[in-house]
Amino acid sequence: MPDTLNSENIRPAGAADLDTIFELNRASFPEAWSKQALGSALAAGFVVYVWPADDGQIAVYFLGQIVLDELHILQLVVAEPFRGRGIGSELMRFILNLMRKQGVNRAELEVRSSNRAAISLYRKLGFEITGRRPNYYSSTAAGSGREDAVLMSYHLKVK
Ligand SMILES: CC(C)(COP(=O)(O)OP(=O)(O)OC[C@H]1O[C@@H](n2cnc3c(N)ncnc32)[C@H](O)[C@@H]1OP(=O)(O)O)[C@@H](O)C(=O)NCCC(=O)NCCS
Repeated sequence: MPDTLNSENIRPAGAADLDTIFELNRASFPEAWSKQALGSALAAGFVVYVWPADDGQIAVYFLGQIVLDELHILQLVVAEPFRGRGIGSELMRFILNLMRKQGVNRAELEVRSSNRAAISLYRKLGFEITGRRPNYYSSTAAGSGREDAVLMSYHLKVK
């Protein structure tokens, strides 16, 4: 069993986290970002949060961008040994609460139609499927052909 996690350790990412974020993104997405693109996002003030385990190993990171009153969810990656333990959901709840407090009205994302885990996670959090972009991705997760994107949206209600 991986190390334990305390949600009080969730924190904004810094430049020292770049290498780990890069490796996690490369291991998870065929359309992975370059280290330079991730570094630019960090420097530009994108919403980037990490949640380290007690031993300091990053278990999950989130990357998003606020555009006007919308949060564009770009990446959520849980390190393989930490998957299936509710960690992705918990970090997303943290981010959505943070955005709500900052006055953001909506969260938007697109995800591969084959990504059942992510679609299910977001639906459980209350996201709705709002559309589909046929052949949006230039390769399937398996590596050939094209793949549709599923569009999802979440309204951040003021409490
Ligand atoms: C998608 C991802 C973030 C899920 O993180 P996680 O911490 O393992 O998810 P959780 O444990 O919080 O699971 C929440 C729900 O998601 C769904 N889910 C998670 N993993 C799943 C899987 N392997 N298969 C099917 N559904 C799954 C389930 O509905 C689950 O609810 P349940 O536990 O009540 O069944 C993780 O698998 C991941 O990092 N994948 C690679 C990167 C990625 O695809 N990111 C999303 C697009 S940006």
